[in-house]
Amino acid sequence: MKKVLLVGNWKMNPQSFEEAKELFLEIKRGIKDTKKVEVAIAPPFVFLYLLKNLAGSSVSLVSQDSFWEKKGAFTGEISPLMLKKLKVKYVILGHSERRIYLGENDQMIGKKINAVLEAGLKAILCVGEKSKEDPEKIVKEQIKNALSFVEKKVLLPSNLILAYEPVWAIGTGNFCPPQNAREMLFYIKKILINFLGSDWEKTKILYGGSVDSLNAQSYLKVGFNGLLIGGTSLKPKAFLEIINSI
Ligand code: PGA
Repeated sequence: MKKVLLVGNWKMNPQSFEEAKELFLEIKRGIKDTKKVEVAIAPPFVFLYLLKNLAGSSVSLVSQDSFWEKKGAFTGEISPLMLKKLKVKYVILGHSERRIYLGENDQMIGKKINAVLEAGLKAILCVGEKSKEDPEKIVKEQIKNALSFVEKKVLLPSNLILAYEPVWAIGTGNFCPPQNAREMLFYIKKILINFLGSDWEKTKILYGGSVDSLNAQSYLKVGFNGLLIGGTSLKPKAFLEIINSI
């Protein structure tokens, strides 16, 4: 049985290492059992180095982004190889906030996925439509376009994770009805079969967008392999309620 993957995306929070450490430890200490669930936390870059000694078998480290080159003159960027040395296991790529505020496009995201997979890390590709956009059309384009920049030889299905995050559901409290999310889950599976062949089932598919302790279970019930959780991952009580309910 696949472990449920719960990724906490802290975004640009909290504001100090002391707070980050406290939050990380509170979550880590509160996890009751890791047989069925893998907890992974994505803090801001600057806290990764300090949190690496606290991470371990019960909580994995995630990066919120990384660059497509290994090293060189790329001001402000971080390479997957640097992250690997910090015990980072997963890298979130193509988050809608980066697409919107930083103008990231499918080509940039695809190149980043390639670099992450080449470094032996796992890539979490975020896809999802804005309100008024056609969900299936957008999701298909985002997956196809990004994966077209990934070399076949590095595209191991177990190292790729898909996160369906409708943009209108992120940070709004307006979560996607689980039955609608389920339809998208099946649609994503169909797309993955084309790209990954018979091993496609090794790719986990997560739901993200206003997940809280009341709605979390309903996405797992309809078949998602895990959740990408923003706001609620900064509230240890509610986040632990989700973790310990698995
Ligand atoms: P949210 O964020 O849970 O706060 O909606 C999810 C995400 O952006 O990954």
